[in-house]
Amino acid sequence: MPFAMLAPRPGNADALIKTGIDLLAPAPGEVQIRHAAIGLNFLDVYYRSGAYPWPVEKDLIVGSEAAGVVERLGSDVVDFTVGDRVAYTMPTGAYASHRNISQNVLVKVPDGIRDEDAASSLLKGLTAYYLLHESFKVEPGHTVLFHAAAGGVGSIAGQWLSSLGATAIGTARGVAKCEAARGSGFQHVIDYGSEDFVDRVKQITGGLGVDAVFDSVGADTYPGSLKCLKPFGRLICFGQSSGPIKNFAISDLAAGSFSVTRPVLFHYTRDRAWLEKAADALFGMILKEEIGRFAGETFPLERVGEAHRKLERREITGSVVLIP
Ligand SMILES: NC(=O)c1ccc[n+]([C@@H]2O[C@H](COP(=O)([O-])OP(=O)(O)OC[C@H]3O[C@@H](n4cnc5c(N)ncnc54)[C@H](OP(=O)(O)O)[C@@H]3O)[C@@H](O)[C@H]2O)c1
Repeated sequence: MPFAMLAPRPGNADALIKTGIDLLAPAPGEVQIRHAAIGLNFLDVYYRSGAYPWPVEKDLIVGSEAAGVVERLGSDVVDFTVGDRVAYTMPTGAYASHRNISQNVLVKVPDGIRDEDAASSLLKGLTAYYLLHESFKVEPGHTVLFHAAAGGVGSIAGQWLSSLGATAIGTARGVAKCEAARGSGFQHVIDYGSEDFVDRVKQITGGLGVDAVFDSVGADTYPGSLKCLKPFGRLICFGQSSGPIKNFAISDLAAGSFSVTRPVLFHYTRDRAWLEKAADALFGMILKEEIGRFAGETFPLERVGEAHRKLERREITGSVVLIP
């Protein structure tokens, strides 16, 4: 029986309710997918809670990345056929057993990559790709700081940073997460639950600071993140797991002629050529086994509320996969 986990209104994790769905024929340019695996993302928490505005009046199906099999084709679909293994990332709509979706957002999953790995790495891996190649082009010799290094995006970014030859400093809370971040390639890991990360970064860099800070934690780590930068350094604010930054002033950047950016993955993925290029790069890294440590705990989709609670309590390491 096709079903979705939908929220009738913004709320806590109990707001996600199992509901049967009608499978309509896909519209022109769309395909119908049966989901095999769905990735859990902090973005889903922002939507579920109402921290991000809903794109619908009510009954929002949350969920932002998934992999599955094409089961039906609408008219005008030329690049995909029934039986293709595909994956996608979209802001919402993935917490379902099936969905109709535009062919423009789909990428084919190569043989050799499991559904669970595709579903738990596409949003996070494309994010790591643009952060490290476009928000700040990381090169050998650079030293960077990456917060929440044991999380979903963080654990992929650590592995990617290793392959780029940069010195990667990660932050994570607690012994187990710090150990996981080291395992994902961060050469230096700071437990920012018990250590002052600004002091530790200064110590590690001999007082110089880092070339770039990748900050998805937000309120709790800004302005410490700015203090870790060397002159002309770049702060990439790409999330707000601890809440939005409310005390930013443009004059803060004058302390070191810094630059700051607040990028969003979906602005990149609108460009089909970019999506294909970045997905090829990600899947290539996975097939070469340069990125391999991402899929963590698995939950049945019906128990997604439990997974949300764990993510919000900071009890998740790596990526979570939901199975419909
Ligand atoms: N802008 C974009 O394009 C884009 C794309 C993807 C993801 N993101 C952002 O990147 C971040 C990581 O996403 P993810 O899905 O991979 O999540 P995640 O990193 O697996 O989970 C978030 C982590 O943030 C840390 N954190 C710090 N303060 C927290 C708090 N008060 N509450 C909860 N967590 C807190 C926790 O790690 P510790 O316990 O180790 O501190 C937690 O594990 C999120 O902020 C997300 O919104 C942005």
